[in-house]
Amino acid sequence: PIVTFIEHDGTVIRIDAPNQRSLMQIAVDNGVPGILGDCGGSCSCATCHGYIDTSWAPRLPPISETEAFMLEGVPEPRETSRLCCQLRMNPDLDGIVVHLPQEQV
Ligand code: FES
Repeated sequence: PIVTFIEHDGTVIRIDAPNQRSLMQIAVDNGVPGILGDCGGSCSCATCHGYIDTSWAPRLPPISETEAFMLEGVPEPRETSRLCCQLRMNPDLDGIVVHLPQEQV
């Protein structure tokens, strides 16, 4: 499945990603600069923050209490904010677009 990251400066990075890998891992594997993933995906750093259009919401797993708590601390939270380490690629997410914030911390 394809995931597209759009950096804050408009740079578009399109990746053919393996199923079951998290969107954070996919970004890090491919050197996407706007995602850091400092905690390695344990939902404890919030440096994998991205904005995912609400049209994808029905296909995403619900936000856990821990993720919601971590999202409260990101620099520019929005309704569409998610932590990319909590989202695993699967065929349903083929074509997903993740907009990256200006900064992660
Ligand atoms: Fe740390 Fe996602 S990688 S919260």
